[in-house]
Amino acid sequence: MLSCKTKTDVIDAVKEYRVSFIQLWFPDVLGRLKSFSVTPGVLEEALDEGMGFDGSSIEGFARIEESDMIAMPDVKTFQLIPWRPRDLPVARMFCDILNPDGTPYEGSTRHALKRVLKKASDQGYTCYLGPELEYFYFANDESPDILDKAGYYDGLPVDRATDIRRNTIFALQDMGIPVEYSHHEVAPSQHEIALKYEEALIMADTVMTYRTTVKEIARQAGVYATFMPKPLGGENGSGMHVHQSLFKGQENAFFDPSDKYHLSKTGKHYVAGILAHAREITAVTNQWVNSYKRLVPGYEAPVYVSWARRNRSTMVRVPMYKPGKANATRMEFRAPDPACNPYLAFAVQIAAGLRGIEKEYPLPDPIEEDIFEMDEKARERAGITSLPGNLFEAIQEVSKSELVRETLGDHIFNKFIENKKKEWDQFRIHVSKFEINRYLPML
Ligand SMILES: Nc1ncnc2c1ncn2[C@@H]1O[C@H](COP(=O)(O)OP(=O)(O)OP(=O)(O)O)[C@@H](O)[C@H]1O
Ligand SMILES: [Mg+2]
Repeated sequence: MLSCKTKTDVIDAVKEYRVSFIQLWFPDVLGRLKSFSVTPGVLEEALDEGMGFDGSSIEGFARIEESDMIAMPDVKTFQLIPWRPRDLPVARMFCDILNPDGTPYEGSTRHALKRVLKKASDQGYTCYLGPELEYFYFANDESPDILDKAGYYDGLPVDRATDIRRNTIFALQDMGIPVEYSHHEVAPSQHEIALKYEEALIMADTVMTYRTTVKEIARQAGVYATFMPKPLGGENGSGMHVHQSLFKGQENAFFDPSDKYHLSKTGKHYVAGILAHAREITAVTNQWVNSYKRLVPGYEAPVYVSWARRNRSTMVRVPMYKPGKANATRMEFRAPDPACNPYLAFAVQIAAGLRGIEKEYPLPDPIEEDIFEMDEKARERAGITSLPGNLFEAIQEVSKSELVRETLGDHIFNKFIENKKKEWDQFRIHVSKFEINRYLPML
């Protein structure tokens, strides 16, 4: 693992390790990784002025007539890529996308997150995030053929992927990403590698690196890794619970030793902000048609807008305080899935939390009973609403959201919704296998 801070650090590292190529990485509006490689010969110019490229073919970027873009490398993200040859290695840096005049490009989702984090730091807060990305290994990318029938925390010999997970963890650590633990998840062929929480922008870059590393190490092992939210009907889907907290300097601003939940006013308002805006940010945290096949009752995934301390059937969980562990005070948002654009998904969550603090939203009472056992009337009495049931409903909600428009900026907001509407229409008009099996024999 390297820790470059300056342009000189990067140039020295390229010389010392005889780096052959430097990949410049950035996300498109849907959070898919885009990259192009530069040679050491143009590195100095790239670090000073950025690298020009044609942005018109990037999803959610500009039209052809205004497609000149600049990729400006972030030197702090310089790392050698462990799955590329050790001799004449390849490195990567994340980039900010700029307009030719050097101003941030309005379609840059990494910049959208930076804007929210600036708002937080103007209020003295540093945002820390700990996302838990679940994923599946399948034999190939054509059909979800499972590799094992193992379950939660099952080990060898039933867990068929311990070596792949092990090699993946080594690659992540090589790139400076601290891993806390890993295990087989509930569904067959489903896994999780738990990361140590980190500052929000670094964590968004880390989610991009995590997905790429998991997929690449799987490919080298001859299998296919996917972050598709719900690839197997009748089994748990893959979620991305996001643990989050705000710090002021070294102090966890969510912690209050005198409170019955050990949660400060700030922490309560933040949770209330996420609850109040959950329906309108769902299209961003759960952006695919398939995302909503996971948000159904009976699979640990949340359906209802509620919070609790222990209860894993709720959408927000505030893990129980462990004496002496003030820094671990946090809230866990359990709705997002790992197929989101992490920059946008983190931006809208933090924006919702900050809005709760700004407007001092009151925190409703926790729901400690199994919410799926409650009948509709009981949920109504408790004022519990549900998350959008499909992408169409989520698009309706986000389209009305002033908070999401402000957070993403008009360009990304419009491009994102335009893209999601197209996706829904494609889904809406296709004739599914379900329909054929169900209707053809009887109609
Ligand atoms: N103050 C904090 N702010 C943000 N994240 C934190 C903080 N303290 C701990 N975390 C992170 O919270 C996450 C906790 O993960 P852990 O797997 O224990 O959660 P869990 O929700 O109990 O697990 P599961 O959902 O599998 O039951 C880790 O990524 C950890 O680094
Ligand atoms: Mg969790």
